[in-house]
Amino acid sequence: MYKINYNIALIGFGGVNRALVNIISINPEKFYREMGFNICIVAVSDIFLGSVYSPEGIDLDLLNELPVAKGAFASLRNGNAKADNEDIIKNSNADIIVEATVTDSVTGQAAISHCRWALANGKHVSTTNKGPLAFAEKELIDLALKNNVSFEYEGVVMSGTPVLRFADKLMKGSEINKFTGIMNGTANYVLGLVEQGQTFTDAITSAQQQGFAEADPSADVEGKDVMLKVIVLANRLWDANLTQDDVKCEGITSLSEVMIKEAVAEGQHWKLIGEASKKDDGSIIASVSPKKLDLLHPLSGINGVVNAITFTSGMLGDVTISGPGAGRTETAYAILSDIIAIHQHVNV
Ligand code: HSE
Repeated sequence: MYKINYNIALIGFGGVNRALVNIISINPEKFYREMGFNICIVAVSDIFLGSVYSPEGIDLDLLNELPVAKGAFASLRNGNAKADNEDIIKNSNADIIVEATVTDSVTGQAAISHCRWALANGKHVSTTNKGPLAFAEKELIDLALKNNVSFEYEGVVMSGTPVLRFADKLMKGSEINKFTGIMNGTANYVLGLVEQGQTFTDAITSAQQQGFAEADPSADVEGKDVMLKVIVLANRLWDANLTQDDVKCEGITSLSEVMIKEAVAEGQHWKLIGEASKKDDGSIIASVSPKKLDLLHPLSGINGVVNAITFTSGMLGDVTISGPGAGRTETAYAILSDIIAIHQHVNV
């Protein structure tokens, strides 16, 4: 039967899921006309704000207006001052679980459990969280297949810029053997501000204020965020089974403000580069490190929060995709694109 209504539970209600609610609520009729389906938010759970579950749907204006205050969901009908992730994921009437909690780059939890509970209970998942992908990608993909549901994660690499589907679907069969990219918006934005004379500390604060940086921005500047993205992309492209132990990782913390300004004076730019290549014997070499690029290099002009990845393929040579790599609305768009993909799978 053709499905046009999706009940959705939001796990995590930070900037990204708030932006998603905003996108959905601006003009519901236009949304339905363009998408061909309706979205009904039935539950939200957040470690700081608490939780709310209304099987018939939550008023989106109330969600848009919810203050950022501890236990704020308790003020809504059916609201609770405590998060209730497990019960909502397993027992609510949601068809799709949107997981947008903070990435834990050491264990991947609790997001891995959120995805497991959802998929094992026959619910589709869209996540923007790098943890489940970097630590449990194969297990979760297998679980989704076994339960005949979708596991989508476009926002994990380059936020809303559709790089995973682009490489996986639109370049399929082109024999991609390498990718090289600027894959962290915060690091690129910070490098740009330091080139203009700001200190590292002020530049990082600015990235946090704009919503680009991770909750712990050391993941951005020490290269760990890029490392997780390299793992996700390599595994998606080549079924590579890469883990963190396989990726050499150095961040922009190894650069000084003087080094960055000197490079500009020499007509060069430092960029944090993530790359991986597939060798003839099938092995994968992957790394993250700052590189000094001269002005003619295609990635040297990628500025601010913009990211870019060049795929090198046997049939097409180099193909570069560039676009926003972070941001609340940009990442919320990635979730919307995942829901569109789920809708297309459900209705094949
Ligand atoms: N902190 C990340 C970045 C967010 O700056 O790129 C998007 O993954």
